[in-house]
Amino acid sequence: MEKLQKAATLFLFLSLISFLANLSTAAAATSPAVFVFGDSTVDAGNNNFLPSDAPKANFPPYGVDYPRRIPTGRFGNGFLSVDFVAKAAGLRRSPPPFLSLSNAVQGRRGVNFASAGSGVFNTTGRYVVTMTQQIKDFSTFAGNLAAAKGARSAAVFLSKSLFYVSVGSNDLFAFSTVLIPGNSTQKDEIVAAVLPQFADQLRSLYHLGARKFAVVGTAQLGCVPFVRRRFPGGACSPDLNDLPLRYKTATRALLGHLAIELEGFRYSFSDFFEIMSHIQSDPQKYGFTELAAACCGSGRLNAEGPCTPNSTYCGNRNQYFFWDETHPTQEVYRLAARLSFYGPRQFAYPVNIHSLLKS
Ligand SMILES: *[C@@H]1O[C@H](CO)[C@@H](O)[C@H](O)[C@H]1NC(C)=O
Ligand SMILES: *[C@@H]1O[C@H](CO)[C@@H](O)[C@H](O)[C@H]1NC(C)=O
Ligand SMILES: *[C@@H]1O[C@H](CO)[C@@H](O)[C@H](O)[C@H]1NC(C)=O
Repeated sequence: MEKLQKAATLFLFLSLISFLANLSTAAAATSPAVFVFGDSTVDAGNNNFLPSDAPKANFPPYGVDYPRRIPTGRFGNGFLSVDFVAKAAGLRRSPPPFLSLSNAVQGRRGVNFASAGSGVFNTTGRYVVTMTQQIKDFSTFAGNLAAAKGARSAAVFLSKSLFYVSVGSNDLFAFSTVLIPGNSTQKDEIVAAVLPQFADQLRSLYHLGARKFAVVGTAQLGCVPFVRRRFPGGACSPDLNDLPLRYKTATRALLGHLAIELEGFRYSFSDFFEIMSHIQSDPQKYGFTELAAACCGSGRLNAEGPCTPNSTYCGNRNQYFFWDETHPTQEVYRLAARLSFYGPRQFAYPVNIHSLLKS
């Protein structure tokens, strides 16, 4: 019911959107809007609006480095990569959480549909907004857009917009807990189960008007403090890294296939796995001194307990790779955003987001 109201309000403001879209110049690496889908790596506060059983980060010390130290619901100490990417794409503000919208003006330059804990599968993460639902929510938005400004100009607007998708790590993590160590055949079977579902989700977005995709690859799951705390010296688990490595390699190949299958489908693959291992192999270059322990939490590597209002947390947060037991710090997100927006093919394939937006 509330969504219907939102839909009604949308109509009032959509002519404004087309006006703004026309203002954006053809060659600049800017985007009229950014639409965001996925999990806690990109959730800017949607889960704040979910029942208490959903994963939450809307309490201190989360957000300690966010302006005015606001715990926005982001799973980090400050901004996420998507915030930096949105800014680089010419947005003044990061796209607001879909569930926070009270009028369409707030969504005229994009919307963040992401929900912490969600995965490619509907069954990954409980009490969350599934990817299926996130895409449905976008479908509602796109329908209103077309109704208000005409199908053609809505299509043009969406085709120039950036679709930023970061999901899959939670699915792999769920599988890995029942599999480890697992052999290569079993890992490839998991990849073969998850990836076609993800492909269908990208196709759904394409059929709703998306053309420019920034897809973030899965992370080095074996290197998060939650896993490292169980290994001598806080080492990474090669077994656990092998699954996301296979998955992200297959994702990269999938995107190449989709670009052939779907006319006008363009993409930039942000290789977060590669970015992580690059930083971890030369941490001093980027000013990191602590790669294994979480900044906020409790117990061994600060990763035996979650980051809560009672947790102690580090002061030199720009030197920590990880903020809590599974999420990186703002400094890592900032670096990852820079490398995926402007970086070489090693990190952003086949083109970086800057080139994607110019094309
Ligand atoms: C999720 O559920 C919907 C129906 O509710 C179904 O159409 C879809 O295939 C499911 N997707 C995944 C990835 O489980
Ligand atoms: C992988 O493990 C499964 C289950 O234990 C087994 O059936 C299969 O033969 C193994 N494959 C290889 C290549 O070792
Ligand atoms: C945090 O500390 C307060 C008071 O010291 C206590 O009442 C509360 O239960 C603690 N909360 C958690 C989550 O440990």
